[in-house]
Amino acid sequence: PHSPLDIVPITGTIGAEIRGVTLSGDLGGETVQHIKDALVRHKVVFFRGQHELDDERHEAFASLFGAPVAHPTVPVAEGSRYLLELDSKEGYAASSWHTDVTFTDAYPAGSILRAITIPEAGGDTVWANGETAYEGLPESLRQLVNGLWAVHSNDYDYAQVLANTPKASEATEERVKQHKSVFASTVYETEHPLVRVHPVSGQRSLLLGHFVKRIVGLNQADSARIFAILQEHITRPENVVRWRWQSGDVAFWDNQATQHRAVADFGLQRRTLRRATIAGEVPVAIDG
Ligand code: SIN
Repeated sequence: PHSPLDIVPITGTIGAEIRGVTLSGDLGGETVQHIKDALVRHKVVFFRGQHELDDERHEAFASLFGAPVAHPTVPVAEGSRYLLELDSKEGYAASSWHTDVTFTDAYPAGSILRAITIPEAGGDTVWANGETAYEGLPESLRQLVNGLWAVHSNDYDYAQVLANTPKASEATEERVKQHKSVFASTVYETEHPLVRVHPVSGQRSLLLGHFVKRIVGLNQADSARIFAILQEHITRPENVVRWRWQSGDVAFWDNQATQHRAVADFGLQRRTLRRATIAGEVPVAIDG
């Protein structure tokens, strides 16, 4: 259906900029519905110039789409009720492919990320479309993944993620331990189907990302190979959108059908963003 919003697609498969909407203002129910529709269609939508969006308004905007939830292990950003701060100064860089918080059963339905301090160059974020990745699989691989489940845990290889951060040269065991003590202070583990049915559109999408520990019923070596094959399909250039941030930008993604990662190419420059997440439901598999 035609949307009255000014929606400019960025690639053929994922991502669109929505223009002319002020997220800090009073958004009517229809506008909210049009943004929801755009999310289902484009998977990640971007809004530029939202300089009025402070923490409180960021949370208020998120609550128009569901119940905002805090990160299960990381303390909320100072002065906020639910926001997660991603600050490069803290050694934080979500620089490997993931879907947010999949180590919990009912992981977030959506995330809303707001840029505060952005490097002069670098520090982009990329998102990948799990639905087009699934559709693009050869039939034989689709048959294989349709029946598979994976174990997701926050007790994963933090050293590997830190090795991808700009401060890699300083990455010591101590830093890995600190990072792990915040991000995995309580160990969560759950199982999700590899193919998730979208609660709104009914579309199938691949559900993997860096919290996957192994595939149920397979040994470590086979799990790792199948994981790599599928991640490679998800993250191919035809399936991703890359966003060059400016401060005041907001990205809103459907966390039920995407993966994303930061690009850690900005050296020691400061990069700070805050993220709201919206409660989700337990994923539904193809067979219910
Ligand atoms: C995230 O994983 O939510 C943040 C991605 C980023 O820092 O670009």
